[in-house]
Amino acid sequence: MAKTKKQQLEEQIAKLVGAGNEVEIETVDFSDPNRPKTVLEIDFPILPVNQVSAIEGNAGKPIYQMSKWWARRRSSVFRSMLLAAAMKAPDNPINAAKSVWDVYYANHQKKGALKHLKVADIFMGGGTTIVEGSRLGMQMYGNDLNPVAWLVVKNELANVDLEEVIRLAEHIESEVSHK
Ligand SMILES: C[S@@+](CC[C@H](N)C(=O)[O-])C[C@H]1O[C@@H](n2cnc3c(N)ncnc32)[C@H](O)[C@@H]1O
Repeated sequence: MAKTKKQQLEEQIAKLVGAGNEVEIETVDFSDPNRPKTVLEIDFPILPVNQVSAIEGNAGKPIYQMSKWWARRRSSVFRSMLLAAAMKAPDNPINAAKSVWDVYYANHQKKGALKHLKVADIFMGGGTTIVEGSRLGMQMYGNDLNPVAWLVVKNELANVDLEEVIRLAEHIESEVSHK
């Protein structure tokens, strides 16, 4: 079947931004006090991240809809901060911000580029950092004094059986809807 104009445009954009490219990423040895700097210590792609986060504000990403969390920050900001904090800065600082943006839409999990990194968000709140780090393939650890935060994050990361969820939703609907 021929692709629609919308599908063609989506494919072109995905290609342009390198969506899903399987990338390797050079990180630093955080246990070395003389380690080289990360991108975040040099620069940050604030302009493109700002643009993406403005669009994302209305996107209603399903994982973040599972509960209301006041003052939830935009996930694009956390994703790029985690990437910038993990990536070794290039020799020329002028390329630093771009090096993060170049791999923003990549598939970081496929080659396990970041899987050796352990990241703790000890004030995890609604879990944006935990979710975004997990999506990047990092080992995430979370903590919060608020048990609601714990419940929200636990369920954001739960391995659910979609069919069971649909069955349950249908059961609830059949119980409460007007007969
Ligand atoms: C703005 S939220 C954090 C957002 C989160 N880092 C994210 O990526 O979405 C701040 C959280 O810090 C938690 N908090 C404040 N003081 C704390 C403490 N002493 N120990 C643990 N959690 C604390 C609050 O309960 C709240 O959920």
